[in-house]
Amino acid sequence: MSSTPTAATAAEPKGLAPRRLAWQVLQAVAAGAYADGALERELGRTSLSSSDRGLATELAYGAIRQRRLLDAWLDQLGKVPAERQPPKLRWLLHIGLYQLLASDRVPPSAAVSTTVELAKRGGLGRLAPVANGLLRAFLRRREAGDTLPLTPAQAADPAMALGVRQSLPPWLAAELLGWLPAERAEAFGQACNTPPSLDLRVNGLRSNPTEVCAALAAAGVEASPIEGLPAGLTLSGRSGDLSRLPGFVEGHWCVQDRAAQRIAPLLDPQPGERILDACAAPGGKSTHLAELMGDQGLVLALDRGEARLRRVTRNAERLGLQSIAVQHGDATALAQQQPELLASFDRILVDAPCSGLGTLARHADARWRIDPAAIDELVVLQRELLDGLLPLLKPQGRLVYATCTVHPRENNQLIQAVLAEYPQLQLQQSWQLWPGEVAGAGDGFYAALLQQQG
Ligand SMILES: C[S@@+](CC[C@H](N)C(=O)[O-])C[C@H]1O[C@@H](n2cnc3c(N)ncnc32)[C@H](O)[C@@H]1O
Repeated sequence: MSSTPTAATAAEPKGLAPRRLAWQVLQAVAAGAYADGALERELGRTSLSSSDRGLATELAYGAIRQRRLLDAWLDQLGKVPAERQPPKLRWLLHIGLYQLLASDRVPPSAAVSTTVELAKRGGLGRLAPVANGLLRAFLRRREAGDTLPLTPAQAADPAMALGVRQSLPPWLAAELLGWLPAERAEAFGQACNTPPSLDLRVNGLRSNPTEVCAALAAAGVEASPIEGLPAGLTLSGRSGDLSRLPGFVEGHWCVQDRAAQRIAPLLDPQPGERILDACAAPGGKSTHLAELMGDQGLVLALDRGEARLRRVTRNAERLGLQSIAVQHGDATALAQQQPELLASFDRILVDAPCSGLGTLARHADARWRIDPAAIDELVVLQRELLDGLLPLLKPQGRLVYATCTVHPRENNQLIQAVLAEYPQLQLQQSWQLWPGEVAGAGDGFYAALLQQQG
């Protein structure tokens, strides 16, 4: 048997390996790794069963999302606040506590005993009784009806209570209560802690939803249509390597969230048009545009991330699309660097880099990375993108500005400022999808459709 750090040994009690793997992911994320990359790396080093892989994924992502709530519990339960605990112990306690709090498939006794065992085997032997004591103290508090780990004074502060209950960073909880009524802010938080749906977009040039559903069903995978999205399908109870599913290699479908599938159709792309996708990688919307145009015309897929741009090429090839031309470059400088492109595009898509506050459920660690200073910088870049790209639009041309965030400064406020400065632009429509607002709506997205007059 292999002796990789996550492989179970013969003497090891059952259930330790997936929890150890999740613990390693938390430690890697605390050291700066991205959660999805760290999880993929750890899973790649193991030979866990598919149900253990599912458990490890649930524990790692769940505990990362719930970091603030779990820390608040540790602050209340022990003598040492969470942030002053030895980090290795803090992350192990997060895995243990998360199981007690949120995992309906783990009995409390298993959550406690595996955490204590991992402490003993993971170099924290002397702290194993501390882990045991803290987890049991939590069970007693819960039995006594305690649900929110805050003092009464803290619980009376709406932003503090929301932030801890839904495990949101303090600045975001406070902002949310300025943007939304309390109930909707709570629903937003809940949606950010709910594993997202897994949606596909069927490539109408190679297949259709009925055929794709049938092929998936034959492989034991349940797929169903998404209301209002002609090419959208959602998969139930599926994780793991999607590229092995029928139709992937053949380019019959790609993975794209239902909210993201609403963006390309807003441009109403027509066969033969010239379309610029200015922030294109990894190509979800470039390929959608090309499919909607019947692969007739040009989609210039520009991006400043060279490695990410290679994924556009791979995706276009797999989906069998010829009309996509890939270009590496900075969209803010395109008009200056290639003046021949001025007023040359029928449609422009600006799927801008953004804070991603609409996709917190999808990216477990994102809420702990983004901060108001980063948003200030993003707003400057988003404005530079629009200023740099508008001169490339033909008269009567359409531009869609989209983000996967809910921050008004990156969305509505930015577009209002642009409209005030460019009287030749008309706002045709704009919308903001908030996570949690409508059941099953998918990621939070903003879109504005602008039309150039004259
Ligand atoms: C939201 S992602 C785009 C997602 C893509 N449209 C899709 O649907 O797959 C934003 C992209 O903007 C790119 N980007 C950021 N600044 C840019 C710039 N100045 N010029 C071009 N691309 C830029 C990033 O590299 C990133 O790939």
